[in-house]
Amino acid sequence: MAGKPGVWIFGYGSLIWKVDFPVVDRVPGLIRGFVRRFWQGSHDHRGVPGAPGRVVTLIPLDEWKEMKDEHRAAEDCVTWGMAYRLPEDQVDQVLAHLRHREKDGYTEHLVDIFQHQADTEPIIFKAICFIGTTKNSSFHGYKPLNELAQQIATARGPSGPNDEYLLNLAHAMHELAPEAVDHHLYELEARVLSLRRTNESGSADAACP
Ligand code: BEZ
Repeated sequence: MAGKPGVWIFGYGSLIWKVDFPVVDRVPGLIRGFVRRFWQGSHDHRGVPGAPGRVVTLIPLDEWKEMKDEHRAAEDCVTWGMAYRLPEDQVDQVLAHLRHREKDGYTEHLVDIFQHQADTEPIIFKAICFIGTTKNSSFHGYKPLNELAQQIATARGPSGPNDEYLLNLAHAMHELAPEAVDHHLYELEARVLSLRRTNESGSADAACP
């Protein structure tokens, strides 16, 4: 089967909820062979050079198997996201825009996209996907979830607070693929929300006479 025609981009991070470029079609789907982790440092969007934030990248399964991590469930081994078909006459402009937007360590790779978890045939072949490989200098790697949540709860950069990025992504994923198992993302969401509540009740107490 040939798959859907056209030039497609697969988004698994901010591209799911921040689509600041023209598209002519969008399809939710999943890719195999990678796990999504908050293991990429952000020095230009959700953090600054001295106090980086954390954003997502994709870790190839063969590398991830050798790495420390909390979650090893088989269902976690796919990554859900959104595929966008670009207007034929604006492919170069959109790619130039995204290369600039995602310049902190990300490079372009090609992935096949499946519509359902049980599918064996992709619906889209060779979609462009931005990945911060484990070799890029902003790849910060594994950190225990409680420390990662703490970093995300406090970091902030020119694009806004780091926790806003995480919560936007988690919210979009609950809507896009409610059936998806993603322990890493949803445990971080729960921990960051809990830290927010603790901070809010702390500042309310401080305001009491
Ligand atoms: C994405 O949403 O797919 C994305 C993630 C990291 C960098 C660029 C794009």
